[in-house]
Amino acid sequence: MAKTRVWIDCDVGADDAAMLLVAHKLEAMEIVGISAVAGNVPLAATYPNARKICHLMQAEYPVYAGAARPLVRKQITAAHIHGSDGLSGVELPLPGREKLETLPAWDAMYQAALTHDNLELIATGPLTNVAIALAKYPALIQKLRRILIMGGAVVGGNRTSCAEFNIYADPEAAESVFRSGVPMVMCGLDVTQKAYLTKAELESIAALGSAQAKTFAAVLQPPLERVLQDGWPGVPVHDLCPALYAVYPALFTARQAGVFVETEGSVALGKTVADLDSDKKFADRHVTVALGIDRKGFVETVGKAMGKYRT
Ligand code: BDR
Ligand code: CA
Repeated sequence: MAKTRVWIDCDVGADDAAMLLVAHKLEAMEIVGISAVAGNVPLAATYPNARKICHLMQAEYPVYAGAARPLVRKQITAAHIHGSDGLSGVELPLPGREKLETLPAWDAMYQAALTHDNLELIATGPLTNVAIALAKYPALIQKLRRILIMGGAVVGGNRTSCAEFNIYADPEAAESVFRSGVPMVMCGLDVTQKAYLTKAELESIAALGSAQAKTFAAVLQPPLERVLQDGWPGVPVHDLCPALYAVYPALFTARQAGVFVETEGSVALGKTVADLDSDKKFADRHVTVALGIDRKGFVETVGKAMGKYRT
């Protein structure tokens, strides 16, 4: 069976790290490249973190550095959730410097799309790199099969009362990506907060015994403790959703919608405005909005992927 070829743009990040560890072992997926963007922590950490996770996975994916700041706004981070290093203080070796890629993320993304027909782009951080790529290379709009993102929320927010972090961190970038016309799958908080792992589920992944499985559990441990204190049942592994959707869409329920990003409002800055339940629909409705997940299937899929690492 032909594999789904993907490029992953991420801001590693505890749940980005967890996503990479799982994505690497998804049989139906072929990762052709990885790029890092500033987000959860500065690029100076997200880029080496992406390389550290590849090294941990013993994977030779090319890793590219992208934008160190949002398109126009002041940078924000989420270090209080991911730790100042982005990996919850989990120390991992950084591979030697001889394999450093020199192209910027957006150029590398475009080259990959020229090489691989129907390339899918998975973005789990602020959309700065993707927006730059689409602006610099308009041909990319036709080249990409779709863009799957962790970002946004139809209802509620986590950075503000109505905006999700990845979109709020660079709303202008997000707005231009939603407006580009590339078919999109939006995995916002509506679905990602349902994609959680309980303490017991995280422990059973750690008990698989491989260095990769232990790291998966370790990076998610501090965010887990935080959400348990707030009365949540488990830690949402937000960034896994678009990666899983790319190859296992049957795990999700979703609806087609028009979605645009608020870039001017003082209260609703960074809100992904969706027309799902509106009488007035947007003319352009090219976004598939994931809203539900088969959590049992999600936990099994993650466990199965993580069980493939050798102890
Ligand atoms: C998103 O923001 C980051 O904190 C996570 O890595 C995830 O991509 C959740 O709002
Ligand atoms: Ca992320």
